Amino acid sequence: MTVFLTGGAGFIGSHTALVLLEAGHDVVVYDNLSNASRESLNRVEQLTGQRIEFIAGDIRDGQHLDRVFAERDIDAVVHFAGLKAVGESTEQPLAYYDNNVAGTLSLCNAMDRADIRTLVFSSSATVYAESREMPLSEQAPTGRPTNPYGSSKLMIEWLLADLQQADPRWSIALLRYFNPVGAHESGRIGEDPQGRPNNLLPFISQVAVGRLPELAVYGSDYPTRDGTGIRDYIHVMDLAAGHLAALKAIEGTNGLHTWNLGTGQGYSVLEMIQAFEQAADRDIAYRLVERRPGDVAECWADASRAARDLGWRAERGLEEIMRDAWRWQSQNPNGFRG
Ligand code: NAD
Ligand code: WQD
Repeated sequence: MTVFLTGGAGFIGSHTALVLLEAGHDVVVYDNLSNASRESLNRVEQLTGQRIEFIAGDIRDGQHLDRVFAERDIDAVVHFAGLKAVGESTEQPLAYYDNNVAGTLSLCNAMDRADIRTLVFSSSATVYAESREMPLSEQAPTGRPTNPYGSSKLMIEWLLADLQQADPRWSIALLRYFNPVGAHESGRIGEDPQGRPNNLLPFISQVAVGRLPELAVYGSDYPTRDGTGIRDYIHVMDLAAGHLAALKAIEGTNGLHTWNLGTGQGYSVLEMIQAFEQAADRDIAYRLVERRPGDVAECWADASRAARDLGWRAERGLEEIMRDAWRWQSQNPNGFRG
């Protein structure tokens, strides 16, 4: 099958491209490189010995998508493209609704015109309403997200559900990721945030290589086992395998499916620091500070639906996550810039 990856040069997209190539699929990446570098795909090509077709473009450019789809035989789209920085989204909501919501609308319109109606979408656990009951299954209520990024993901879920209901020829998977972390085991590709990282693990990694002085631990008075926030951290290679499984499951079918992609296991911030220190064999300087607005105490997945429907489950544990995150960061202290 030929799979079209929007945002395929980014963190999750590049790992998924690798997994798809290794499974024998052809991969076309469409990315405006606003938060990624072409080098990630060069490395995927080196690792797999296979070619990726790269097209520089923006999903909001419907005419360009029309030309691209007309010239190729695309079987399915995996839609990663979008902006994802929660804090930035509160300062620039229009940019988030434009890239994420209007971008998805433009993509779906172009797919429809080209008779391509198989779509896997990168959603997020952020769509769930705040809940004291863990784990979160797909039936848990969605909420009013605390930031425009989260709202854009929920709006896209609604848009796709309405589309599929109106035209049952569509086959759509909404994949709700929990906290994607880690890197390919080679250490050649990984997460390369521009500027100051927003997420925990890239922040810890950059403290470890001396790019940042210390980690601020946001909140130590949560009602959790050590007072710090608990999340479900999923290895990006497991997440990538989840996309392959979802594509296999929806190919040639009609309908809309929602699957959590998480491990079902939560770890606290302090447990994450400790596990990283062990993997990297060095201390991480950190300081306990106030809670970060909008954060919940805990969030982890009930991943049983994906296990049942897709035969997929996360296989890599915390040790592998930290080993691979550290290999990537220590071998590429400045990311894809060397
Ligand atoms: P990323 O920023 O590394 O990848 C997104 C890619 O999309 C980048 O390569 C960027 O250049 C590209 N892009 C952005 N806007 C575009 C546009 N208008 N047209 C074309 N390309 C565009 O992020 P990621 O971590 O790989 O996330 C991939 C997807 O998964 C995103 O939709 C994100 O919201 C979602 N997601 C991420 C996480 C996470 O914590 N990383 C969690 C849940 C969901
Ligand atoms: C994890 C834990 C923080 C940074 C976000 C988005 C979510 C999804 C994944 C896209 C929390 C703590 C963090 C730091 C810290 N993205 N922390 N110091 O907030 O669970 O989820 O990324 O869809 O939508 O909201 O991930 O990595 O930011 O935080 O103490 O410098 O680490 O408080 O407990 P989060 P995170």
